[in-house]
Parts: sequence; structure tokens; C-alpha cells
Amino acid sequence: MFYKLAQKVMFQMDPEKAHHFALNSLMATANTPLDCFYAQKIAPSPVEFMGVTFPNPVGLAAGMDKDGECIDGFHAMGFGHIEVGTVTPRPQPGNDLPRLFRLKPAKGIINRMGFNNKGVDNLIANLKAAKSGALIGVNIGKNKDTPVEQGKDDYLICMDKVYEYAAYIAVNISSPNTPGLRSLQYGDLLDDLLGSLKAKQKDLAQKHGKYVPIALKIAPDLSDEEIQKIADSLIKNQFDGAIATNTTLSRDGVSGLMNANETGGLSGKPLNLLSTSVIKKLSNCLNGQIPIIGVGGINSAADAIDKLDAGASMVQIYSGFIYQGPKLIKDIIEACRVRK
Ligand SMILES: Cc1cc2nc3c(=O)[nH]c(=O)nc-3n(C[C@H](O)[C@H](O)[C@H](O)COP(=O)(O)O)c2cc1C
Repeated sequence: MFYKLAQKVMFQMDPEKAHHFALNSLMATANTPLDCFYAQKIAPSPVEFMGVTFPNPVGLAAGMDKDGECIDGFHAMGFGHIEVGTVTPRPQPGNDLPRLFRLKPAKGIINRMGFNNKGVDNLIANLKAAKSGALIGVNIGKNKDTPVEQGKDDYLICMDKVYEYAAYIAVNISSPNTPGLRSLQYGDLLDDLLGSLKAKQKDLAQKHGKYVPIALKIAPDLSDEEIQKIADSLIKNQFDGAIATNTTLSRDGVSGLMNANETGGLSGKPLNLLSTSVIKKLSNCLNGQIPIIGVGGINSAADAIDKLDAGASMVQIYSGFIYQGPKLIKDIIEACRVRK
């Protein structure tokens, strides 16, 4: 009820201004009695994933809380984990405005944010300041001005810094908004990146006395052969998990709608079936050896169950959360409980 009202107000605003308004409101009210406007009591529904016990199977997808400023607020809503980032070694402003667009009739969003973030050191300060004990995935990327051939170094820098504060680390090579980034999804570049991250993980596990799993986040715009190759590389390098999928470059299902021709990645309802089909193919290729978080277009509890049926073990939401509000978290958790 409260969310419907808040949404009405925010949908009158420019999308990025609404985003900042929402995050600032969360920051101001988290850990105060005013969190009653969005806090939800949800019975635990634990899921074992990548060796970590998550309190429930629904997480907040990367990109909403890039700098980890609202962890306690999102935790109060009932998310079982919060994936912060994408964070890069150095702060960067991202692409020029406007860069965020609603496709309301389709319940979609197009964004070309370009990894705007305040840098990894700022993120760590926020992770240390969070009080709620929420499980945090840290999604890492490379700075725009780091050449793709040296991109690996940026991932290693971020991994080194966030390791001790993360429940898991997500390696984002699938954003369409950083030039050349998706080339890391293919062939030798991918193998080299995954191998180096895995070696780094081994060193850090020894140094910190704890094993933090690493997951690869992939795009939905991949051929069957490319999905197979990524799966082979994940298995070969003993990666801990996969996150499928990021936003799509496709405009299927939205042509003719306002903002449909904006450059960037499309998310929300129009992405749902494509994302589910990628999860299904990836799951077949991985053959149960590596678990998957399903994300992309979940707009209802039934959509989330489809992701689990396709082979995912947990889900994340972003656009559906914008369109449906915190109730979607609860609905999905309930549906997962019934499915068990
Ligand atoms: C505005 C916006 C910003 C995003 N930023 C990131 C990001 O920084 N890193 C990332 O891995 N994914 C990012 N994503 C992708 C989401 O995490 C998610 O994979 C995608 O939106 C599909 O899920 P959805 O349909 O539930 O939104 C972003 C999505 C949106 C809409």
C-alpha cells in the first residue's frame, strides 16, 4: 500500500532522480522506527548456495545499491542477500545523463549507467558501517579507462580489497555499457581471467582464513555454443557459481514503445523468457556441477519459480522490485517455501 503511493510519486520524477530519492530516503530511515514503512517480517527459509547458508532465496541484484549505502534498509525489507556494486578500483562518474529510462507499459527498464560508482575503498567503508549483518555479495568490474587487455588487474585489485567483507564475489563481465567488457566472456581472455581470479582466491583464503566463493555474471545475449564454452571454462577453473543474466541488447517485445530505442541494456519483464532460456541452457551444460543464481525479468512469484525450474538455486530481482515493490520479495519466498 505504502509502496504503491511512493511509486506514484517516484514515477512522476526523472528515473535517476527517483532512484537517488529512494536511496536517500532509505539511508535516512534505516535502523529507525520509520523503517516500518517498508520493513517486512519474513520467516527464515534457508538455502545452501556455494557453501554459504543464505536466510532465503531472494537477493537484490547488482546495480541498485552500487556503493553499499542502503544495506540495512534493503535488509529490513527481507532480502536474503544484497549484491552491491558493480564497484571499480577507482571512482568514476559513469555515462552522460540521461542514462536511465522506464518502459512502463512493458514493465521494463533501459539503462546505460556505465558503472557509476564511488570506488572500492568507499564501498568498503560502507560495508564496515552496515549494522544489520546482511549477507553481501560484492559485484566487481573494471574502470572504463582501463584497457580491456589489462581489465584483469582491476578485478584482482577489487577482489583483494573486498574479500574479507563479502559473503561471495560476483565477477561482472556482462554489462553492455562498458566498451569491450563483454569480450571478456569469450575464449582465452575468459579462461585467463577465471584462472587468475581462482588463484587469487586461493591466496586470499589462506591469508584471511576463510573461503569466499566467486561467481561469474553472464549476459543473456550468447549463442548456445558460447554458453557451452563459458560453462566449460567455469568447470575447468572450478568457479563456485554463475549468475544469469545481466541486461539484454535485444529489443524483442518492446519495439514501438517510448524509450525502446535508447542505447543500453534492457531489463524487466521483456527480459524474462530470454534469461530463463539462458539459465536452462547453462544449467544443462553445467550438469549440476556449479550452482546458478537466476536473475532477469522476475516480476512475480511464478516468474521466480520458472527460474528455479530452469535450474537456478536462488534468484535476484531489480526491475520487478521497482514495479512491484517489497511485497515481491515476500511473495517469492512464500512460493519457494511451497515448492520445496
Ligand atoms: C539501472 C540498472 C543498473 C544496473 N547496474 C548493474 C551493475 O552495476 N552491475 C551488474 O552486474 N548488473 C547491473 N544491472 C543488471 C541487474 O543486476 C540485473 O542483472 C538485470 O537488471 C536483470 O534483472 P531484472 O530484470 O530483475 O532487472 C543493472 C540493472 C539496472 C536496471
